[in-house]
Amino acid sequence: MSSPDNPSGRAGASSLETFARDHLVRLGETSLRRHLIPTVRGPHSVAARHGRSLVSFSCNDYLGLSQDPRVIAAVQAATALYGTGAGASRLVTGSHPPLAALEERLAAHKGTEAALVFGSGYLANLGIVSGLAGPRDLILVDALGHSCLWAGARLSGAKVVRFAHNDLGDLEGQLAKYRSRHQHALILTERVFSMDGDRGPIADILCLAEAHDAWTLVDDAHGLGVIGKDARAPLEMGTLSKALGSYGGYLCASRAVVDLMTSRARSFVYTTGLPPASAAAALAALEIMEAEPDFAARPLALARRFTARLGLPEAQSPIVPILIGEAEAALALSAALEERGYLVVAIRPPTVPAGTARLRVAFSAAHTEAQVDALAEAVRALGFETLPPQRERVR
Ligand SMILES: Cc1ncc(COP(=O)(O)O)c(C=O)c1O
Repeated sequence: MSSPDNPSGRAGASSLETFARDHLVRLGETSLRRHLIPTVRGPHSVAARHGRSLVSFSCNDYLGLSQDPRVIAAVQAATALYGTGAGASRLVTGSHPPLAALEERLAAHKGTEAALVFGSGYLANLGIVSGLAGPRDLILVDALGHSCLWAGARLSGAKVVRFAHNDLGDLEGQLAKYRSRHQHALILTERVFSMDGDRGPIADILCLAEAHDAWTLVDDAHGLGVIGKDARAPLEMGTLSKALGSYGGYLCASRAVVDLMTSRARSFVYTTGLPPASAAAALAALEIMEAEPDFAARPLALARRFTARLGLPEAQSPIVPILIGEAEAALALSAALEERGYLVVAIRPPTVPAGTARLRVAFSAAHTEAQVDALAEAVRALGFETLPPQRERVR
């Protein structure tokens, strides 16, 4: 007879079921199993979970724009005018007006000739990196680079070399060792590292890149709009899903590079275009971000208030890690904070290196100073010991 655990009704589990269950048991034993929790996000950084209202410090909606009435109105208007979906790949059905306007605005914001919007930031990195580099090329990736930078590098078939996190000496050494054996070289780094909140030394990397005829891609997923001016790379990619409160990814670059990606990035060519609503939301959010610079500076100021309160190194971005060590301990601290009304999710391997599970505290312009102070007090009262900052990710 069939049951939810054995839908086929056949005696004994299939090898697929056994594989999945055995893995789940192992993940559970090491506190690494993930669970989806029904959660309702609302304005003012509030998240309702387990029947309780929590102040969320886990969201990348750094400016609270996903809940902004002006952004919501733009989405409603675009949906009424253009419908809910793009219909097909953009090379088939074309670019609907909010997408074309968004690309123009993104390029102007970054000061590049052109921009190309992808289905997500993850898809953008897969397509850009594998569209630019191939088996005869070299890709150098920061050791703490996001999963999608590594995935794009591996997909390309290029020689992939890791350099120690933010370590210019190591990067230079790797370039000296490998560059001459490859046709092109591409350096992949981030403006703000997603799990550590520290910043890449972009200007110095650009100098090294120039000296070794290497191209640089900066992933600006967590920097856009919230950390002030920085040196610009020839390949600036990012996401529409964080400070812009929407969904989608982008590349800002020269006209030639954008045109090449339009024909060559497989995660652009062979996938459906972004819905009008997502493009309209990002466009409205970008306009607000540009028009209200004081508001855009707020998440970093709040993060610095928090690090000062707890005696942590001064925040370099709206992301503050509290490094705990073991996954179980990080989960326990997160649960204790939830008891006190705060959503601060524990980040565990393989998202971060083994032994460096942490609380990742993300600040938003929607938080109040009082909320930030109260969270700092709750963390202090619970007691915590931080590990030193990380240099390497075990992969
Ligand atoms: C550094 C970095 N790059 C890229 C991405 C992927 O962006 P998206 O969420 O739009 O796929 C993320 C998102 O988690 C990220 O943190």
